[in-house]
Amino acid sequence: MSLSTGSHFAIESAGLTKSFGGHNAVDGIDLKVPRGSIFGFLGPNGSGKTTTIRMILGLANISAGSVSLLGRSVPDQLGEALPHVGALVEGPAFYPYLSGRDNLKRFDAADRYADPKTRDARVDASLAKVGLSSAAGKKVHAYSLGMKQRLGIANALLQPRELLVLDEPTNGLDPQGTREVRNLIRSLALEGITIFISSHLLVEIEQICTHLAVMSRGAIVAQGSVEELSASEVLNLRLVTAQGASALTALKSVGINGVVDGELVTALVPSGQIKPEQIVQVLVEMGVGVQSFTLEAPTLEERFVLLTGEGFDVAR
Ligand SMILES: Nc1ncnc2c1ncn2[C@@H]1O[C@H](COP(=O)(O)OP(=O)(O)O)[C@@H](O)[C@H]1O
Ligand SMILES: [Mg+2]
Repeated sequence: MSLSTGSHFAIESAGLTKSFGGHNAVDGIDLKVPRGSIFGFLGPNGSGKTTTIRMILGLANISAGSVSLLGRSVPDQLGEALPHVGALVEGPAFYPYLSGRDNLKRFDAADRYADPKTRDARVDASLAKVGLSSAAGKKVHAYSLGMKQRLGIANALLQPRELLVLDEPTNGLDPQGTREVRNLIRSLALEGITIFISSHLLVEIEQICTHLAVMSRGAIVAQGSVEELSASEVLNLRLVTAQGASALTALKSVGINGVVDGELVTALVPSGQIKPEQIVQVLVEMGVGVQSFTLEAPTLEERFVLLTGEGFDVAR
């Protein structure tokens, strides 16, 4: 069933560009989505995620550059790749007065690659996979937003897939709905499906992703495995003390330039330069009362805020 190809990447683009009236909404991106990854495509609203996804899936014309999907070039060989790709882009428009099951049957009937003989079985298997079996006969207008998102994912899974592309599947969901979608993605990844998932909220997907790309104003500003992106050359030092001035002098004696703000002293320390216990020892020797002390790598969120200059919307 699987689409044999030599490509290590489920999605690979080179210089992929989309212009709208002279403005590049996507500006020459080189995306590399390894097979088997859960790939988080992050970026603030308007950074070009949906436009990129639409080009990858052949839903929008490519202005410049190229993209391959499961080793097939888009758009020329799209027909070979698409049957192996499930997608949820901007939520499918469901018929509110049909049940979840009947909606999926209608979508499947509209899919020219779908075998009508296996339709009922595939629809029920897909509903079971997303945990909607018991709600399958309910009309969709009575579904919660999370249930609708899961129905959209069920729709994308009506055929065996190698790649699932989900555009902001957790957008607008409450924490419970977000957890449900995350758990579903984890279980699908265990089956070996590559998952490409976009979000403007790092916190919603960072726990499940193996790889990330960060978009800012149409460009990729960071890309790689989560381990690569988490490796840090600098650590954040945070010290709480009533003796800020003495603390600065003590830090200076071991080559660290700190900043004091009230009782909080902060500094950036190159990782590997000095052990935390050595810093604390110097502070204590100089009579600095240490109320709390941490020396930690910046969080992904802190790094991405620096990279995008816009930050991520962490509000729910
Ligand atoms: N059909 C279109 N015509 C003109 N501009 C568009 C169109 N679609 C998207 N854009 C613009 O492209 C930029 C990126 O949009 P989009 O890809 O939707 O970002 P995201 O999905 O990251 O929020 C935005 O500035 C948006 O206004
Ligand atoms: Mg979008």
